[in-house]
Amino acid sequence: MTVRAIGYGTSLPEKILTNDDLAEMMDTNDEWIRARAGIGARHVGGVTSEMATEAGAAALKDADLSPADIDLIVLCTSTPDQRLPATSAVVQANLGLTCGAFDVNAVCAGFTYGYVTAYGLMNAPTGPDRVLLIGADALSPIMDWTDRGTAILFGDGAAAVVLEKHEQGELLAFDFGADGNLQPILYCDHDGFITMEGREVFKKAVRAVTQSVENVLRKAEIEPGEIDVVLPHQANIRIIEAVAQRIGIPMERNVTVLETTGNTSGASIPLAMAKAADDGLLEPGKLVLMAGFGAGMAWASAVVRW
Ligand code: UT7
Repeated sequence: MTVRAIGYGTSLPEKILTNDDLAEMMDTNDEWIRARAGIGARHVGGVTSEMATEAGAAALKDADLSPADIDLIVLCTSTPDQRLPATSAVVQANLGLTCGAFDVNAVCAGFTYGYVTAYGLMNAPTGPDRVLLIGADALSPIMDWTDRGTAILFGDGAAAVVLEKHEQGELLAFDFGADGNLQPILYCDHDGFITMEGREVFKKAVRAVTQSVENVLRKAEIEPGEIDVVLPHQANIRIIEAVAQRIGIPMERNVTVLETTGNTSGASIPLAMAKAADDGLLEPGKLVLMAGFGAGMAWASAVVRW
């Protein structure tokens, strides 16, 4: 049994902070942020459960389903509304669902971990027939708005996909990794702000993602040139370019949204997925690569024959 995507939805808060807005708050400028990160604006003021609910409702509508058709919610987030309950339970109630619900926290690698988890559960005995898989993060509340090393990068958002058991949509291979020794270079304490050694994270990310993508392609017995669509984590355009160049996948096959969203952590890959679907890139049979990385450090890659 395999699993296909049958509906997509997104949610971005109304309030937009442009690079010029940031330049009024700290010593930075539009030219530097675009050149060093590829970001022009980000959405702020989001609440994880609200964005996840909106994205989930839109995905259900896109799939032409009612809430009763969903058997499980998996919410990928590192910014839950509360320590407990899981924010997925709040989303479940908001959407009027009665199914099981749990959160996955692998930060910016979360959606790829979540996708593989949902796929595995759907293929387990008595597993769910349809899963609402959501990536949602509200990073603006944990931003130090005096730190130009982080405040320029992150934003809020959510995106959701409805997965359904079907003969189309085979997960060919996945690769999970983590190195908890790197916790000091990117973390956020309870009631604190995101703290990051940007240059270190950059170097480690390029190395880890390149290695992980090489692993997953080898496991799937696929050459880099065969990949049709890459859905990379949207942290910095230079990381996406560096990995694409090292792996040997043309940059044009990478779907990006970060110019208008910044880094939305768990939402970044599904936002790219929703854009790819909108652009008609996710035709049945296409080879799609997801590759995420972030705090942990944790990383995850997956190749799907759509
Ligand atoms: O989800 C995963 C999490 N995070 C990431 O993937 C982030 C990874 N890191 C990055 O994306 C990059 O390291 C940053 C965008 C954060 C920084 O870019 P960089 O090219 O690594 O810059 P840098 O920290 O090496 O700084 C270069 C210069 C410095 O000036 P000097 O020392 O050369 O005079 C900085 O002081 O740029 C300066 N600078 C800035 N200037 C204007 C640093 N931040 C800014 C800024 N605006 N916001």
